[in-house]
Amino acid sequence: MILTFEQEKAIIRALLQRLGANEEEASATAEVLTEGDLRGFGSHGLLRLPYILRALKRGTIIANAKVKVVKETPATALIDGGHGLGHYVATRAMRLAIEKAKKQGIGAVGVHNTNHFGIAGCYAEMATREGLIGIVTTTTDALVHPWGGMEPLLGTNALAIGIPSKPQPILLDMAMSVAARGKLVEAMKEGKPIPEGWAIGPDGRPTTDPMRGLKGALSPFGGAKGYGLALVLEILAGPLVGAAMGKEVVGTLEPVEGYSTKGDFMIAIDPAAFGSADEFIARVKKFVAQLKKSRKAPGIKEILVPGEPEFRTRETRLKEGIPIAEEVWIELKQIAKELGVDLKGLK
Ligand SMILES: NC(=O)c1ccc[n+]([C@@H]2O[C@H](COP(=O)([O-])OP(=O)(O)OC[C@H]3O[C@@H](n4cnc5c(N)ncnc54)[C@H](O)[C@@H]3O)[C@@H](O)[C@H]2O)c1
Repeated sequence: MILTFEQEKAIIRALLQRLGANEEEASATAEVLTEGDLRGFGSHGLLRLPYILRALKRGTIIANAKVKVVKETPATALIDGGHGLGHYVATRAMRLAIEKAKKQGIGAVGVHNTNHFGIAGCYAEMATREGLIGIVTTTTDALVHPWGGMEPLLGTNALAIGIPSKPQPILLDMAMSVAARGKLVEAMKEGKPIPEGWAIGPDGRPTTDPMRGLKGALSPFGGAKGYGLALVLEILAGPLVGAAMGKEVVGTLEPVEGYSTKGDFMIAIDPAAFGSADEFIARVKKFVAQLKKSRKAPGIKEILVPGEPEFRTRETRLKEGIPIAEEVWIELKQIAKELGVDLKGLK
């Protein structure tokens, strides 16, 4: 199934609103999920909608959430997300960080009582659109083992850093695991092995069997350094913001009995607080040009900067449409039927 981005957004909005989400919540969620699919991060696009709808039905995600600032200084804020839709709460949090950065030079906002927020890059990019640097992190259920360990104790803890540049920002947006859990599920369904290094089995040894990997733990990217980064991000988006950490983080994979206990942390920085913003952007642009013009390794035609592969996919998919996996479409059609939403009418 191929959907245009307008169709995908309309479907997401309609299903969320049928379960009580208000216009602003439904639109923010539709925006970020669709951006996931547009950029080729399918594991964080429409695929996540059934999970969100199940959680709304169970009441573990709350529609019309009471999002409130519970602690504040001129440059910081702590937000209680009211167990609302994670994408909406995160959008509000980054908006506040931006507002603070414009006044104080920097804005740091922590969030608890919230839900899975999709692709971290969307929020970092919100800052770059205002000429600011955006830094975003979050936690998930424990899936990743510590370096040298064999138990899943860390989340895949996305990290996004956006640097304003022209014609597009530098947008590093990445998980802490070598591969997403969804890629193991996909390999298992297709009966294919996974590359060594993606995961360890329940015995703590590297495995190429996706089923053993799912029973064991995902491996952090970059060895001990990736593990270290995952660990400090777990603390920033965990205890710092009044959210859970390690195995106490629940509700990001499937709706649980209670509420999700994950947290988010975002920072916006105004380059003008350190010097001329125009000069900063000009120097970033110059450095990107230098990287691109530099000598390429054998067999490599082009050097890219973070974000570029996704912006290119986005461009293509805006023109040609977004391919949606058949099983995702079948599940959504079933949910829409149960909720009495006519998907054809939306297209
Ligand atoms: N919400 C959550 O809880 C959560 C948790 C984990 C991951 N995520 C999201 O999952 C998505 C996928 O993460 P991932 O780690 O699988 O991404 P990835 O491995 O596909 O890409 C990671 C980064 O590498 C860059 N990159 C890739 N090839 C490049 C090249 N040749 N040159 C320069 N840069 C290059 C990309 O632009 C991107 O910034 C992200 O959007 C992330 O935010 C979300």
